[in-house]
Amino acid sequence: MNELILGIETSCDETGVALVRDGELLADVTATSMDEYARFGGIIPEIASRAHLESFIPTLDAALDAAGVELDDVGAIAVTAGPGLVGPLTIGMSAAKALALALNKPLFAVNHIVGHIAVDKLVNGGFPERFIGLVVSGGHSHLLKIGNIATDIEELGGTLDDAAGEAFDKVGRLLGLPYPGGPHVDKLAQQGNRHTINFPRGLSRGKDKARHQFNYSFSGMKTAVARYIEGCEARGEEIPREDIAAGFSFAVCDVLLEKAFSACQIFDSDTLVIGGGFSANSMLREMAAERGEKYGIGVRIPPIRYCTDNGAMIAALGWSLVREGVAESPLNVTVNTGLPREQIVLR
Ligand code: KG4
Ligand code: ZN
Repeated sequence: MNELILGIETSCDETGVALVRDGELLADVTATSMDEYARFGGIIPEIASRAHLESFIPTLDAALDAAGVELDDVGAIAVTAGPGLVGPLTIGMSAAKALALALNKPLFAVNHIVGHIAVDKLVNGGFPERFIGLVVSGGHSHLLKIGNIATDIEELGGTLDDAAGEAFDKVGRLLGLPYPGGPHVDKLAQQGNRHTINFPRGLSRGKDKARHQFNYSFSGMKTAVARYIEGCEARGEEIPREDIAAGFSFAVCDVLLEKAFSACQIFDSDTLVIGGGFSANSMLREMAAERGEKYGIGVRIPPIRYCTDNGAMIAALGWSLVREGVAESPLNVTVNTGLPREQIVLR
Protein backbone atom coordinates (compact mmCIF):
# COMPACT_ATOMS: atom_id res chain seq x y z
CA MET A 1 0.00 0.00 0.00
CA ASN A 2 3.02 2.29 0.16
CA GLU A 3 3.16 2.58 -3.56
CA LEU A 4 4.06 5.91 -5.10
CA ILE A 5 1.08 7.12 -7.16
CA LEU A 6 1.58 9.50 -10.07
CA GLY A 7 -1.50 11.62 -10.88
CA ILE A 8 -1.96 13.35 -14.25
CA GLU A 9 -4.67 15.91 -15.00
CA THR A 10 -5.17 17.57 -18.41
CA SER A 11 -8.97 17.82 -18.87
CA CYS A 12 -9.08 21.56 -19.49
CA ASP A 13 -6.39 24.27 -19.35
CA GLU A 14 -4.29 23.01 -16.42
CA THR A 15 -1.46 20.51 -16.84
CA GLY A 16 -1.33 18.98 -13.36
CA VAL A 17 1.16 16.36 -12.16
CA ALA A 18 1.28 15.16 -8.54
CA LEU A 19 2.84 12.40 -6.47
CA VAL A 20 1.14 10.76 -3.49
CA ARG A 21 2.50 8.06 -1.20
CA ASP A 22 0.33 6.48 1.50
CA GLY A 23 -2.02 9.46 1.65
CA GLU A 24 0.78 11.99 1.76
CA LEU A 25 1.04 14.55 -1.03
CA LEU A 26 4.75 14.68 -1.95
CA ALA A 27 4.45 17.08 -4.89
CA ASP A 28 1.75 18.91 -6.84
CA VAL A 29 2.82 20.98 -9.84
CA THR A 30 0.51 22.83 -12.22
CA ALA A 31 1.11 24.71 -15.46
CA THR A 32 -1.76 26.63 -17.01
CA SER A 33 -2.56 28.11 -20.41
CA MET A 34 -5.37 30.30 -18.97
CA ASP A 35 -3.45 33.55 -19.65
CA GLU A 36 -3.84 32.89 -23.38
CA TYR A 37 -7.66 32.95 -23.26
CA ALA A 38 -8.47 36.37 -21.79
CA ARG A 39 -8.61 37.92 -25.28
CA PHE A 40 -10.95 35.16 -26.55
CA GLY A 41 -13.29 35.16 -23.51
CA GLY A 42 -13.12 31.36 -23.26
CA ILE A 43 -10.82 28.36 -23.57
CA ILE A 44 -9.69 27.39 -27.07
CA PRO A 45 -9.25 23.57 -26.99
CA GLU A 46 -6.62 23.55 -29.76
CA ILE A 47 -4.43 26.01 -27.86
CA ALA A 48 -4.94 24.07 -24.61
CA SER A 49 -3.95 20.76 -26.30
CA ARG A 50 -0.72 22.21 -27.64
CA ALA A 51 0.05 23.78 -24.25
CA HIS A 52 -0.38 20.39 -22.53
CA LEU A 53 1.99 18.82 -25.03
CA GLU A 54 4.60 21.51 -24.35
CA SER A 55 4.16 21.54 -20.57
CA PHE A 56 3.84 17.86 -19.78
CA ILE A 57 7.50 16.80 -19.50
CA PRO A 58 8.65 19.98 -17.67
CA THR A 59 5.71 19.63 -15.23
CA LEU A 60 6.47 15.93 -14.66
CA ASP A 61 10.17 16.72 -14.08
CA ALA A 62 9.30 19.51 -11.63
CA ALA A 63 6.98 17.17 -9.67
CA LEU A 64 9.63 14.40 -9.48
CA ASP A 65 12.21 16.97 -8.34
CA ALA A 66 9.91 18.46 -5.71
CA ALA A 67 9.10 15.00 -4.32
CA GLY A 68 12.78 13.92 -4.44
CA VAL A 69 11.94 10.72 -6.33
CA GLU A 70 12.83 9.07 -9.67
CA LEU A 71 10.42 8.01 -12.38
CA ASP A 72 11.38 4.39 -11.65
CA ASP A 73 9.97 4.75 -8.10
CA VAL A 74 6.42 5.21 -9.44
CA GLY A 75 4.17 2.25 -8.57
CA ALA A 76 0.94 3.22 -10.37
CA ILE A 77 -0.29 5.94 -12.74
CA ALA A 78 -3.67 7.65 -12.49
CA VAL A 79 -4.87 9.89 -15.30
CA THR A 80 -8.06 11.86 -16.01
CA ALA A 81 -10.15 9.97 -18.59
CA GLY A 82 -13.06 12.45 -18.57
CA PRO A 83 -15.18 14.45 -18.48
CA GLY A 84 -13.33 17.27 -20.22
CA LEU A 85 -12.16 18.48 -23.61
CA VAL A 86 -11.25 15.68 -26.00
CA GLY A 87 -7.90 17.10 -27.22
CA PRO A 88 -6.52 18.01 -23.79
CA LEU A 89 -7.72 14.68 -22.29
CA THR A 90 -6.05 12.75 -25.12
CA ILE A 91 -2.67 14.41 -24.52
CA GLY A 92 -2.68 13.42 -20.82
CA MET A 93 -3.98 9.92 -21.56
CA SER A 94 -1.29 9.32 -24.21
CA ALA A 95 1.42 10.49 -21.83
CA ALA A 96 0.06 8.25 -19.06
CA LYS A 97 -0.10 5.22 -21.35
CA ALA A 98 3.46 5.79 -22.52
CA LEU A 99 4.64 5.94 -18.89
CA ALA A 100 2.62 2.86 -17.87
CA LEU A 101 4.09 0.93 -20.77
CA ALA A 102 7.66 2.11 -20.23
CA LEU A 103 7.58 1.53 -16.45
CA ASN A 104 5.42 -1.61 -16.69
CA LYS A 105 3.09 -0.27 -13.97
CA PRO A 106 -0.73 -0.26 -13.74
CA LEU A 107 -2.76 2.55 -15.33
CA PHE A 108 -5.96 3.90 -13.76
CA ALA A 109 -8.07 6.03 -16.14
CA VAL A 110 -10.20 7.98 -13.68
CA ASN A 111 -13.14 10.36 -13.34
CA HIS A 112 -12.26 14.06 -13.01
CA ILE A 113 -15.43 14.91 -11.06
CA VAL A 114 -14.76 12.23 -8.45
CA GLY A 115 -11.18 13.53 -8.20
CA HIS A 116 -12.54 16.94 -7.07
CA ILE A 117 -13.94 15.17 -3.98
CA ALA A 118 -11.10 12.61 -3.52
CA VAL A 119 -8.49 15.39 -3.02
CA ASP A 120 -10.18 16.40 0.23
CA LYS A 121 -8.96 13.14 1.79
CA LEU A 122 -5.35 14.26 1.40
CA VAL A 123 -5.91 17.45 3.37
CA ASN A 124 -8.81 16.71 5.74
CA GLY A 125 -8.28 12.98 6.44
CA GLY A 126 -10.33 9.80 5.85
CA PHE A 127 -13.95 9.99 4.70
CA PRO A 128 -16.90 8.81 6.81
CA GLU A 129 -18.81 5.64 5.84
CA ARG A 130 -21.21 7.66 3.70
CA PHE A 131 -21.40 11.32 2.79
CA ILE A 132 -22.74 13.81 0.25
CA GLY A 133 -20.39 15.39 -2.31
CA LEU A 134 -21.07 18.68 -4.08
CA VAL A 135 -18.84 19.30 -7.10
CA VAL A 136 -19.08 22.82 -8.47
CA SER A 137 -16.78 24.03 -11.23
CA GLY A 138 -16.68 25.87 -14.54
CA GLY A 139 -18.05 22.86 -16.39
CA HIS A 140 -19.92 20.92 -13.71
CA SER A 141 -22.37 21.13 -10.83
CA HIS A 142 -23.27 17.74 -9.35
CA LEU A 143 -24.65 16.33 -6.13
CA LEU A 144 -23.27 12.89 -5.32
CA LYS A 145 -24.16 10.28 -2.71
CA ILE A 146 -20.90 8.56 -1.82
CA GLY A 147 -20.43 5.28 0.06
CA ASN A 148 -16.83 4.60 -0.91
CA ILE A 149 -14.89 7.07 -3.07
CA ALA A 150 -13.24 4.17 -4.97
CA THR A 151 -16.26 1.95 -5.56
CA ASP A 152 -19.65 3.40 -4.67
CA ILE A 153 -20.98 6.69 -6.05
CA GLU A 154 -24.52 7.60 -7.07
CA GLU A 155 -25.42 10.85 -8.81
CA LEU A 156 -28.42 12.48 -7.15
CA GLY A 157 -28.65 15.41 -9.55
CA GLY A 158 -26.81 18.10 -11.44
CA THR A 159 -27.27 21.25 -13.46
CA LEU A 160 -29.73 21.16 -16.35
CA ASP A 161 -27.97 24.04 -18.12
CA ASP A 162 -25.00 26.19 -17.00
CA ALA A 163 -22.57 25.10 -14.29
CA ALA A 164 -22.19 27.44 -11.30
CA GLY A 165 -18.73 28.67 -12.37
CA GLU A 166 -19.91 29.07 -15.96
CA ALA A 167 -22.85 31.24 -14.80
CA PHE A 168 -20.39 33.35 -12.79
CA ASP A 169 -18.13 33.71 -15.83
CA LYS A 170 -21.13 34.90 -17.90
CA VAL A 171 -22.25 37.35 -15.22
CA GLY A 172 -18.63 38.55 -15.08
CA ARG A 173 -18.88 39.37 -18.78
CA LEU A 174 -22.19 41.23 -18.22
CA LEU A 175 -20.50 43.29 -15.50
CA GLY A 176 -17.53 44.06 -17.76
CA LEU A 177 -15.05 41.94 -15.77
CA PRO A 178 -12.10 40.03 -17.30
CA TYR A 179 -12.32 36.30 -18.13
CA PRO A 180 -12.67 34.03 -16.18
CA GLY A 181 -15.20 36.16 -14.31
CA GLY A 182 -15.78 33.88 -11.28
CA PRO A 183 -13.03 35.21 -8.99
CA HIS A 184 -13.73 38.83 -10.07
CA VAL A 185 -17.47 38.53 -9.34
CA ASP A 186 -16.45 37.04 -5.96
CA LYS A 187 -14.31 40.12 -5.14
CA LEU A 188 -16.96 42.59 -6.33
CA ALA A 189 -19.63 40.78 -4.29
CA GLN A 190 -17.57 41.32 -1.14
CA GLN A 191 -18.16 45.07 -1.56
CA GLY A 192 -21.91 44.82 -2.14
CA ASN A 193 -25.06 44.08 -0.17
CA ARG A 194 -26.41 40.59 -0.90
CA HIS A 195 -29.95 41.52 0.23
CA THR A 196 -30.49 44.65 -1.93
CA ILE A 197 -31.45 42.79 -5.13
CA ASN A 198 -33.37 39.54 -4.85
CA PHE A 199 -32.53 37.34 -7.86
CA PRO A 200 -34.65 34.22 -8.58
CA ARG A 201 -33.50 30.77 -7.39
CA GLY A 202 -33.78 28.11 -10.13
CA LEU A 203 -35.79 24.90 -9.48
CA SER A 204 -36.38 25.88 -5.85
CA ARG A 205 -40.14 26.40 -5.62
CA GLY A 206 -43.34 24.39 -6.04
CA LYS A 207 -43.61 21.88 -8.89
CA ASP A 208 -40.12 22.65 -10.23
CA LYS A 209 -38.63 21.82 -6.85
CA ALA A 210 -40.68 18.63 -6.52
CA ARG A 211 -39.70 17.44 -10.00
CA HIS A 212 -36.05 18.48 -9.65
CA GLN A 213 -35.28 17.86 -6.00
CA PHE A 214 -31.50 17.65 -6.54
CA ASN A 215 -31.11 19.38 -9.89
CA TYR A 216 -29.89 22.90 -10.51
CA SER A 217 -30.55 25.54 -13.16
CA PHE A 218 -28.40 28.67 -13.28
CA SER A 219 -29.10 29.95 -16.76
CA GLY A 220 -32.35 31.76 -15.75
CA MET A 221 -30.54 33.39 -12.84
CA LYS A 222 -27.88 34.73 -15.22
CA THR A 223 -30.63 36.00 -17.58
CA ALA A 224 -32.26 37.78 -14.60
CA VAL A 225 -28.96 39.65 -14.09
CA ALA A 226 -28.89 40.61 -17.80
CA ARG A 227 -32.51 41.92 -17.56
CA TYR A 228 -31.68 43.88 -14.40
CA ILE A 229 -28.70 45.58 -16.10
CA GLU A 230 -30.81 46.35 -19.20
CA GLY A 231 -33.47 47.91 -16.94
CA CYS A 232 -30.88 50.19 -15.30
CA GLU A 233 -29.52 51.22 -18.71
CA ALA A 234 -33.03 51.93 -20.09
CA ARG A 235 -33.76 54.18 -17.10
CA GLY A 236 -30.36 55.85 -17.40
CA GLU A 237 -29.44 54.73 -13.88
CA GLU A 238 -25.98 53.81 -12.69
CA ILE A 239 -25.50 50.03 -12.57
CA PRO A 240 -25.07 48.87 -8.94
CA ARG A 241 -22.35 46.35 -9.90
CA GLU A 242 -21.35 45.43 -6.35
CA ASP A 243 -24.95 44.76 -5.25
CA ILE A 244 -25.67 42.80 -8.44
CA ALA A 245 -22.58 40.62 -7.85
CA ALA A 246 -23.52 40.13 -4.19
CA GLY A 247 -27.22 39.38 -4.89
CA PHE A 248 -26.36 36.96 -7.70
CA SER A 249 -23.69 35.17 -5.62
CA PHE A 250 -26.13 34.89 -2.74
CA ALA A 251 -28.84 33.38 -4.97
CA VAL A 252 -26.44 30.80 -6.51
CA CYS A 253 -24.89 29.79 -3.15
CA ASP A 254 -28.32 29.65 -1.51
CA VAL A 255 -29.68 27.08 -4.03
CA LEU A 256 -26.46 25.07 -4.14
CA LEU A 257 -26.38 24.68 -0.37
CA GLU A 258 -30.12 24.33 0.16
CA LYS A 259 -30.20 21.21 -2.03
CA ALA A 260 -26.89 19.84 -0.72
CA PHE A 261 -27.92 20.06 2.94
CA SER A 262 -31.35 18.66 2.08
CA ALA A 263 -29.57 15.64 0.50
CA CYS A 264 -27.53 15.21 3.71
CA GLN A 265 -30.72 15.18 5.78
CA ILE A 266 -32.65 12.84 3.47
CA PHE A 267 -29.77 10.35 3.17
CA ASP A 268 -28.77 10.61 6.81
CA SER A 269 -25.27 11.92 6.15
CA ASP A 270 -23.49 14.04 8.74
CA THR A 271 -20.82 15.22 6.28
CA LEU A 272 -20.86 17.39 3.16
CA VAL A 273 -17.67 17.54 1.07
CA ILE A 274 -17.49 20.40 -1.47
CA GLY A 275 -14.98 20.52 -4.33
CA GLY A 276 -14.34 22.01 -7.78
CA GLY A 277 -13.16 25.44 -8.94
CA PHE A 278 -16.28 27.25 -7.76
CA SER A 279 -15.74 26.04 -4.19
CA ALA A 280 -13.02 28.72 -4.06
CA ASN A 281 -15.91 31.21 -3.82
CA SER A 282 -15.74 33.12 -0.54
CA MET A 283 -19.51 33.49 -0.06
CA LEU A 284 -20.04 29.75 -0.67
CA ARG A 285 -17.40 28.91 1.94
CA GLU A 286 -18.85 31.31 4.49
CA MET A 287 -22.48 30.22 3.94
CA ALA A 288 -21.58 26.50 3.93
CA ALA A 289 -19.82 26.84 7.30
CA GLU A 290 -22.75 28.80 8.78
CA ARG A 291 -25.42 26.38 7.56
CA GLY A 292 -23.36 23.33 8.50
CA GLU A 293 -23.29 24.61 12.05
CA LYS A 294 -27.02 25.32 11.97
CA TYR A 295 -27.92 21.82 10.70
CA GLY A 296 -25.24 19.94 12.67
CA ILE A 297 -23.54 18.73 9.47
CA GLY A 298 -19.76 18.80 9.11
CA VAL A 299 -18.61 20.72 6.03
CA ARG A 300 -15.28 19.87 4.40
CA ILE A 301 -13.83 22.05 1.64
CA PRO A 302 -10.15 21.69 0.62
CA PRO A 303 -7.89 24.76 0.52
CA ILE A 304 -8.41 26.89 -2.61
CA ARG A 305 -5.35 25.56 -4.49
CA TYR A 306 -6.90 22.07 -4.43
CA CYS A 307 -10.33 23.33 -5.57
CA THR A 308 -9.30 24.32 -9.10
CA ASP A 309 -7.98 21.59 -11.41
CA ASN A 310 -4.75 19.96 -10.24
CA GLY A 311 -2.81 16.68 -10.34
CA ALA A 312 -3.27 16.01 -6.60
CA MET A 313 -6.98 15.24 -7.07
CA ILE A 314 -6.16 12.52 -9.61
CA ALA A 315 -3.27 11.08 -7.55
CA ALA A 316 -5.60 11.06 -4.51
CA LEU A 317 -8.23 9.07 -6.38
CA GLY A 318 -5.54 6.71 -7.76
CA TRP A 319 -4.34 6.10 -4.20
CA SER A 320 -7.90 5.25 -3.06
CA LEU A 321 -8.32 2.82 -5.98
CA VAL A 322 -5.03 1.05 -5.24
CA ARG A 323 -5.92 0.81 -1.52
CA GLU A 324 -9.30 -0.74 -2.32
CA GLY A 325 -7.70 -3.25 -4.72
CA VAL A 326 -9.73 -1.98 -7.69
CA ALA A 327 -8.68 -3.50 -11.04
CA GLU A 328 -6.53 -1.34 -13.34
CA SER A 329 -7.62 -0.01 -16.75
CA PRO A 330 -6.52 -1.82 -19.92
CA LEU A 331 -3.87 -0.05 -22.02
CA ASN A 332 -6.35 0.33 -24.91
CA VAL A 333 -8.62 2.48 -22.71
CA THR A 334 -9.80 5.71 -24.35
CA VAL A 335 -11.01 9.09 -23.07
CA ASN A 336 -14.69 9.86 -22.50
CA THR A 337 -15.68 13.55 -22.67
CA GLY A 338 -19.04 12.80 -21.02
CA LEU A 339 -17.93 10.18 -18.50
CA PRO A 340 -20.87 9.47 -16.12
CA ARG A 341 -20.26 10.34 -12.46
CA GLU A 342 -20.94 6.78 -11.31
CA GLN A 343 -18.03 5.47 -13.38
CA ILE A 344 -15.05 6.08 -11.13
CA VAL A 345 -12.46 4.25 -13.25
CA LEU A 346 -12.66 3.34 -16.94
CA ARG A 347 -12.27 -0.19 -18.24
O1 KG4 B 1 -12.63 23.16 -11.45
P1 KG4 B 1 -12.13 24.25 -12.35
O2 KG4 B 1 -10.72 24.75 -12.17
O3 KG4 B 1 -12.25 23.83 -13.85
C1 KG4 B 1 -13.33 23.07 -14.34
O4 KG4 B 1 -13.26 21.81 -14.24
O5 KG4 B 1 -14.31 23.72 -14.79
O6 KG4 B 1 -13.18 25.48 -12.20
C2 KG4 B 1 -13.01 26.71 -12.86
C3 KG4 B 1 -14.26 27.58 -12.59
C4 KG4 B 1 -14.33 28.84 -13.46
O7 KG4 B 1 -15.65 28.97 -13.97
C5 KG4 B 1 -14.00 29.96 -12.46
O8 KG4 B 1 -14.59 31.18 -12.81
C6 KG4 B 1 -14.60 29.40 -11.20
O9 KG4 B 1 -14.27 28.02 -11.22
N1 KG4 B 1 -14.03 30.04 -10.00
C7 KG4 B 1 -14.75 30.84 -9.17
C8 KG4 B 1 -13.86 31.28 -8.18
N2 KG4 B 1 -12.62 30.76 -8.43
C9 KG4 B 1 -12.74 29.99 -9.56
N3 KG4 B 1 -16.04 31.17 -9.19
C10 KG4 B 1 -16.48 31.97 -8.20
N4 KG4 B 1 -15.71 32.45 -7.21
C11 KG4 B 1 -14.39 32.13 -7.16
N5 KG4 B 1 -13.63 32.61 -6.16
ZN1 ZN C 1 -12.49 20.53 -12.57
